[in-house]
Amino acid sequence: MKKIIINSIQDINKTSKSDSIVIGLFEDKKNLFSSIDKDSYSILSEVNEAGDLSSKSGDISVIYTPNRIFKKFKYSRIFVLGLGKIKFLDNNSVRSAAGNLSRRIQATNCNSVNFVLDSFISEENNYFELSQSFLEGFLLGSYSFNKYKSSISLDKEKNITFDVTSSKKSSALDILINKAIINSEAEKKARNLVNEPANIMSPSELSKFSLSLSNDKLSCKILNYDECKKLGMNAFLGVAQGSVEEPKLIHLSYKPNKDDNSATWYIGKAITFDSGGLSLKPSGSMLSMKGDMGGSAAVISAIEAISKLNIKTNIEVLCLATENMPSGSAQRPSDVVQAMDGTYIEVENTDAEGRLTIADAIAYARKFNPKAIIDVATLTGAAGIGLGKGNISAFSNNEKLMSSVKKAGIFTGDSVWELPLDSVSKKQNNSAIADIKNTGGRLAGSITAAHFINHFVKETPWVHLDIAANMMSASAEGWYSKGATGIPTRLLIELAYTLEK
Ligand code: BES
Ligand code: MN
Ligand code: ZN
Repeated sequence: MKKIIINSIQDINKTSKSDSIVIGLFEDKKNLFSSIDKDSYSILSEVNEAGDLSSKSGDISVIYTPNRIFKKFKYSRIFVLGLGKIKFLDNNSVRSAAGNLSRRIQATNCNSVNFVLDSFISEENNYFELSQSFLEGFLLGSYSFNKYKSSISLDKEKNITFDVTSSKKSSALDILINKAIINSEAEKKARNLVNEPANIMSPSELSKFSLSLSNDKLSCKILNYDECKKLGMNAFLGVAQGSVEEPKLIHLSYKPNKDDNSATWYIGKAITFDSGGLSLKPSGSMLSMKGDMGGSAAVISAIEAISKLNIKTNIEVLCLATENMPSGSAQRPSDVVQAMDGTYIEVENTDAEGRLTIADAIAYARKFNPKAIIDVATLTGAAGIGLGKGNISAFSNNEKLMSSVKKAGIFTGDSVWELPLDSVSKKQNNSAIADIKNTGGRLAGSITAAHFINHFVKETPWVHLDIAANMMSASAEGWYSKGATGIPTRLLIELAYTLEK
């Protein structure tokens, strides 16, 4: 990682290497940064008095201070970032404002910025947490996926370098800057995996990517069709049998606690394209289905970051990757398959394929005596109908684990809302001819899907995150760009800290 320069507040106009400076502006704290104001010939206070600086959260004003005129001021622009009212400032609002700022700066000719951290934060707040959120928002907001636009040169997402100015000790800042960089890199990797079209991001390609992450801290094992067959993963392989792409089991391990033989398992749904199978989706609904591996993108990116951050907890990542396609060899609605744990499943609808793959993933994980299982899946359209795009639908059999997940989500802005596993909905999965069926009718679609998964989890502490509504963003807003969001990569990284002993 590149060393980020940390300037002290007294030397704001001397030590920074950047061409532009960014300061925050609160609605109810009108004192503008006096040392910058002085150095810049009071231009800040003048523009402010003229009423031209917006303090609305996420608004940006740009003041040009060319060096030939502002001779003793070393920056050629001042970006003023609105932060709203002090009491409403939190990790989400500052991350969101920083995302907007990042896109605005991308649109200028600016190459390097200095962030005056003290100006973004008021005394009442947690300086370090908010600074981390600010930097993450900045690093995520300008993400874009231009790989296949030959007319856009690679510098569309310019690499804007930054340094920071702060009154705090630099060792503590070093840690948070490092975290912010690793977290946002991980979430961008997840976005890349999801944005990549399904003709490229096949099960084999996802396996190759995972293998490329392995090093002395992170190991990766791939199982092919025959090996999965031997393990009895017929629920998984039933989904795969309509596709010409070979299914793959991807298993990444991070084991910093060598004498602990147990781990927390992060399981990600990895349907590289979901056509629905013979229960074919209408064409409009199929369009975003390259993103049906969003769960796997998040867990794979998260474990890499967790290993880079040296978080002291054992994590295993498991993704059963396949396409769900219709063909002469595809599984039929009404087929019965036997999952790895022996359960007979009636496949009522081949489009409810995610839960079939997760069932075998959980059966596999349970052979390794897991401490806990977190599964992340773009599982049901019903999740969005119920809670919209602003919430991840969550289910659990363990209050303590659920509360850690919620807390992590509050910090990272991946908001989690728990739904019930009630006994009335559970009955909807009863099958006339097998142990369970893979659909539960029109009502409570996210709940019946979670009940199905719960059947395989048995007593292992477990949280299920249905991210179907959250995996894509329709527009660039806050720290999201148009397209894949990478949710909930940062939540999973944050959660790992709470799993440390
Ligand atoms: N991958 C879809 C769920 C989905 C929908 C993800 C929209 C992202 C956006 C899943 O495999 C699916 O098709 N679910 C069905 C279940 C139904 C057949 C019981 C659904 O939600 O319609
Ligand atoms: Mn489906
Ligand atoms: Zn699916």
